[in-house]
Amino acid sequence: MGWTLTKISAFVLLIVSAYAYLGQLVPQFEEHAPAKRTISVDTNAEELASIGRELLRGKGGCLVCHKDGETGNERGPDLRQALARAASRKPGMSAEDYLLESLTTPDAFVVTGYPNIMPSALKPPANLTPAEVKAVVSYLQVLGGGEVTMRIASGDLAAGSNARQGVHRGRELMDESACTGCHLVNGEGGTVGPDLTKVAAARTPEEILRKMVNPAAWTTKGFEAGKMPSFEHLPEGERHEIVAYLVGLAGGSYSPTGAASPWSHEGVRLGLVILVFNLGMALALVLARRWEGKGASS
Ligand code: HEC
Ligand code: HEC
Repeated sequence: MGWTLTKISAFVLLIVSAYAYLGQLVPQFEEHAPAKRTISVDTNAEELASIGRELLRGKGGCLVCHKDGETGNERGPDLRQALARAASRKPGMSAEDYLLESLTTPDAFVVTGYPNIMPSALKPPANLTPAEVKAVVSYLQVLGGGEVTMRIASGDLAAGSNARQGVHRGRELMDESACTGCHLVNGEGGTVGPDLTKVAAARTPEEILRKMVNPAAWTTKGFEAGKMPSFEHLPEGERHEIVAYLVGLAGGSYSPTGAASPWSHEGVRLGLVILVFNLGMALALVLARRWEGKGASS
């Protein structure tokens, strides 16, 4: 009997390790491309503040100079105290108006002890739209423990200030990463490399991703090898954005999570793992019974 128990325990251990191994194959969390969140007159306070947080940390580039938590820099005041100080910065000016003014016309009031280096959030590099500025102020209000008082008017949305609005993020990344310095894309760019406008019609997303990470993977016929640098350093999500843009140009659609193959979908993988686990348990039970039968007969 003791022997049977040992065998059963060993089997259970084996199954559990197999389960653990399979579980570890399920990707922790695939990198999702940032979904484009749009602001409208109906965006509620909570959502507005959440978009503002994203803008402050991302496109706004505010953490280059400020802190909104443990990360960031100290070239400017800590933004966790911005709301509390805003009410008393300029006599007669509400905290809300002060914050808006700080973002759009930073020169209007320069906090003592700091240099006048802050660029207007409406201009490059941040280049926020008026609606986005209101979203950031909403976040500052939440950060300071206050109420969101910002309301989006339709005028905030008619954003002439943001020249690049509506440009696909993948296209922006291609310009920033200098892909278009060497490649023609939709009629714009260089000619050191092949025209990429329809590249996704001839190449799979996986191939394009591979070429970016390992340009030596292959050499396009008629072009010089070794000219294209590796873009391994680009965050994976950005590489996916570029591919999504190129696939779109060629008339296809691409989901950066890799949902194109059902096997790569997290849910499907998890389902498989559970199935394998249950099959293993069933097998363990059957075998345990057989061992027990043998044990009893001997
Ligand atoms: C290049 C550095 C830099 C960047 C980028 C920058 N700021 Fe500032 N900011 C400062 C400095 C320095 C001050 C203090 C001097 C002043 O008032 O202009 C300041 C002041 C402020 C204030 C007023 C704080 C107070 O205590 O009165 C707010 C609010 C603010 N910034 C928010 C932002 C937000 C939001 C962004 C991103 C859209 C941003 N800043 C980007 C440097 C920067
Ligand atoms: C300094 C110039 C240069 C830059 C920058 C560059 N490439 Fe290239 N790329 C080339 C050259 C030259 C080739 C053709 C020779 C080869 O295959 O290596 C090429 C080939 C390719 C191909 C293969 C096309 C095919 O059908 O065979 C893809 C895809 C590609 N590049 C994508 C990109 C992307 C995306 C970026 C930006 C993230 C980029 N390249 C940046 C020069 C460049």
